[in-house]
Amino acid sequence: MKLLFFVYLVNLSVTSIVLAQDIPNWLEFETNYARSKAKNITANWGNSEWLMEEILTGGDVNQKSKMVRLYLYPSTLNKFYSEEIVIDDFESLVTSNFNRNLPTKIFIHGFGHGYNCSFPQDMKDIFLLYQIPVNLVVVEWGPLAMSSEAPSLIDRFKNYIVASENVEIVGNRVGDFISYMWMLGYYSPSMVHIIGFSLGAHAAGYAGKRVYDSTLQQIGRITGLDPAGPLYSTGLVGRHLNEYDASYVDFVHTDMGQSGTVLSLGHSNYFVNGGKPKQPGCISQITEYSLFEKIPVALLGSCSHSTAPLYYSQSVAQSNDFIVATQCYSNVAFQTGLCAFNDVAIFGEFSSPRTRGWYYLRMLPQDRSNIYSC
Ligand SMILES: *[C@@H]1O[C@H](CO)[C@@H](O)[C@H](O)[C@H]1NC(C)=O
Ligand SMILES: *[C@@H]1O[C@H](CO)[C@@H](O)[C@H](O)[C@H]1NC(C)=O
Repeated sequence: MKLLFFVYLVNLSVTSIVLAQDIPNWLEFETNYARSKAKNITANWGNSEWLMEEILTGGDVNQKSKMVRLYLYPSTLNKFYSEEIVIDDFESLVTSNFNRNLPTKIFIHGFGHGYNCSFPQDMKDIFLLYQIPVNLVVVEWGPLAMSSEAPSLIDRFKNYIVASENVEIVGNRVGDFISYMWMLGYYSPSMVHIIGFSLGAHAAGYAGKRVYDSTLQQIGRITGLDPAGPLYSTGLVGRHLNEYDASYVDFVHTDMGQSGTVLSLGHSNYFVNGGKPKQPGCISQITEYSLFEKIPVALLGSCSHSTAPLYYSQSVAQSNDFIVATQCYSNVAFQTGLCAFNDVAIFGEFSSPRTRGWYYLRMLPQDRSNIYSC
């Protein structure tokens, strides 16, 4: 035990030395980035520099909007079968198997991903497997979500920034689709539940705002699965998903301070296993240890971050034996039993829209074999 503790300490100090060199943390970068952007000047990162121009004039909004696509998965018999619904094309909507009498789940993926990745595909498959009567709509914004696999860290970093800058376009496009259906008298926004992972959570927030701005109607629900933290911490760059974006907004935290946000801005906020890294089954990455982590961490892809969709999927499968969480004010209090007699709330898919506050729970991610793939 003594030895283990010693190794852990050494590990920590080595990590801090390596990372502390000239790499700013995300908060620092976010503030500088916002400042540079406002002045339309060159931004610095480490020893590298690049022109803001590259980001500010990063393409035509209309053209980018068209790169956002929607796929409906209507068949419980064939999970690979999809129908594309073309936004603004009523014909494609009415000829599809979209059922206007059922509620709708819209899934939005995050940075470096596409619609064929584990999220949303695995979660969509769970809804089909349990034959939950809903329309399942998957959003594809892969070409705008950039690559998280770029060989150099600086390229991944730029890609993350560009992807973040595209999030509003994605959200607006999804919002326009929902508004369009309402304006045709075809479908009510209150029947829509958007489930967004990472940057996709913030895209969902923009969608909710867009729908409200154009129709004065609110989307029924938005679930933020570990909403992305970097560039969304200060409000100076990205607009953070919050409780005004839908009638009910629930957050699932699993990687706070790393890839995930530290802000709990939902009506209800669920902290799984404390809400922070490292989640059970995740190998201890040397970097997974503190809040406001240094920049590279979120870009290396985080195991703890990708457990959020897994936990949520597990909740979909638990309609007979709900997963419950306990209201509490901190993980330490929860762990030591100080909140044992507090209110409980159902976690995940079956969470009640009347739930308010902070809830803690322990969970094991069931399928560790293939935690996230694209
Ligand atoms: C920012 O500067 C670039 C040239 O460096 C220019 O093309 C662009 O129009 C400027 N953008 C704004 C918003 O001023
Ligand atoms: C996504 O998966 C489907 C079904 O396997 C396939 O037909 C399609 O080409 C894939 N799309 C992309 C962009 O990989």
